Amino acid sequence: MSITEPQVKEALGTVIDPALEHDIISWRLVRTIEISGDDVLVRVDLPTHAYPLPARKELQTRIETAVKKLGAKRVTVISEVVTAWQPAPSDKAILKGPKNVIAVAAGKGGVGKSTVAVNLALSLQRHGAKVGLLDADVFGPSIPTMLGPPEVAPTASKDSKIIPAIHQGLKVISVGFFVDKGEAVVWRGPMVHRLLQQFLGDVEWGELDYLICDLPPGTGDVQLSLSQLIPISGAVMVTTPQEISIIDVVKGIAMFEKVEIPILGIVENMSSYKCPACGHVDEIFSHGGGKRLAQEVGTSFFGEIPIDTRIRFGGDAGVPIVVASPDSETARLFMDIASRAALKVASNVLSKPKRSPRLAVIK
Ligand SMILES: Nc1ncnc2c1ncn2[C@@H]1O[C@H](COP(=O)(O)OP(=O)(O)OP(=O)(O)O)[C@@H](O)[C@H]1O
Ligand SMILES: [Mg+2]
Repeated sequence: MSITEPQVKEALGTVIDPALEHDIISWRLVRTIEISGDDVLVRVDLPTHAYPLPARKELQTRIETAVKKLGAKRVTVISEVVTAWQPAPSDKAILKGPKNVIAVAAGKGGVGKSTVAVNLALSLQRHGAKVGLLDADVFGPSIPTMLGPPEVAPTASKDSKIIPAIHQGLKVISVGFFVDKGEAVVWRGPMVHRLLQQFLGDVEWGELDYLICDLPPGTGDVQLSLSQLIPISGAVMVTTPQEISIIDVVKGIAMFEKVEIPILGIVENMSSYKCPACGHVDEIFSHGGGKRLAQEVGTSFFGEIPIDTRIRFGGDAGVPIVVASPDSETARLFMDIASRAALKVASNVLSKPKRSPRLAVIK
């Protein structure tokens, strides 16, 4: 007796995606099933470019095993990345092009938000995604310094739209492009709102899988305005390990929850310092606070970034570590964090019943 599509679908319903930890049928990751005698072809959608390669191989094996149990001789799995996203509700539709907006935030200043935002954006790009970076820190824009001189400067189009700069392949917009370096910028709440409205509405981002938003510290006007203007897929919270930073992140999390921005997870930055000369590891700001906090508030822990002189140097020199030393352990940590954050964004989208029409699925 020949294998039927309902049988294959039922078998695939038992397959758990190793990266998303959910079955592939109810999250509609199976696009088509094609059967020809004893041969079965399964096309699956991977919801992010940052889907890890080992998980890709494991998913293939799981699908093959499940379908072979039905008696199939040859099982072919073809996977294609289709970024999961949800169209914005009509009152938050000013942003055209980016599918997912990821905010990078912290309760405290100087804990490494901009460092994480830049390296997260570049890591997602290295994973293969199209990425933009919005420097929403109107009080102290540091993205232009961190990314160095642009390959392409920002311009205005004929119809007065802003064309983003291109830095290291990323589309970038920063308030730093429009004010002189060193000039103190005093923004009142309504000015911040108008500025962000223009950034978000008038910028020709083009199609992007992710727009990373670097936020100023704390829980102020920028966070509030952004949450009102655009649909934010979620926030990555950055903390240093010590108690004083953790307390502020807790406040930040509470604020985001109030404005209905989901917390994607926590990154612990400046986790420890390994002496390059003797290999001794010193926990300058303590260690483990980020992980503990994630457990306490019930969110994901994305990883720890050590104190690494190359991060500071890369930030000052305009060549972030993910680009300057892509094979370093620290760059690999950023790539992993990017992967975890993107998978969390995808899980949040896929777990909702209403989804992007672009994710066409089997009937
Ligand atoms: N893991 C790290 N190792 C070494 N230096 C780091 C690390 N993380 C950040 N830095 C350095 O610390 C400084 C502050 O980092 P960054 O500007 O990213 O923080 P921030 O939270 O965005 O600050 P602000 O609140 O002013 O926006 C920078 O000089 C950066 O290069
Ligand atoms: Mg910053």
